[in-house]
Amino acid sequence: MISVKRDDITREDAEVIVNAANAGLRGGGGVDGAIHRAAGPSVMEECRQIGHCATGCAVITQAGKLKAKRIIHTVGPVWKGGTHGEPQLLRDAYRSSFLLAKRHGLRSIAFPAISTGVYGYPKKEAAAIALAAGREFEKDFDEIRYVCFSDEDLEIYQGTLNSKAGAGAGQ
Ligand code: APR
Repeated sequence: MISVKRDDITREDAEVIVNAANAGLRGGGGVDGAIHRAAGPSVMEECRQIGHCATGCAVITQAGKLKAKRIIHTVGPVWKGGTHGEPQLLRDAYRSSFLLAKRHGLRSIAFPAISTGVYGYPKKEAAAIALAAGREFEKDFDEIRYVCFSDEDLEIYQGTLNSKAGAGAGQ
């Protein structure tokens, strides 16, 4: 099942939540900062030991004080106008996260809108990629949740989910 909601992802009770990290796994602002603040220092320590995650890839850690069991840290692309492989890299970030969750036997997963904050990816295009990736992996999970941080994001996700784009874009 695919669902969209407006919330703070740090409060999610999905088995795994996904973080929009940077390649150095150093933490930052946005959802990354919020997740590390809520999870506590043990997660940052684990990230330090892992050390790096390339754009489009994903790594997994424990979830510290969060309700979730695990955190997947993925790195989306920085938007540079769309001609630098950004759509493929964003798809890769979602797919890598799904594959890692699947490999760890995790059955419910919650995503923020990766790359659409500091990294500047246009929100509608990013939502289409996020939801199309979800369709690909729907059968492997009990629930795939997209957690929007604003009403505007929620409207974009709901609109995309209910449109043809949500069912098939990017495939
Ligand atoms: N819950 C859910 N979504 C959130 C939360 C939260 N608590 N906080 C922010 N967001 C949303 C933002 O509104 C945006 O839609 O997450 C989306 C992604 O924004 P960013 O966190 O800025 O992530 P991104 O654009 O991928 O940039 C990653 O920012 O924080 C740094 O370390 C991070 O360098 C990396 C970069």
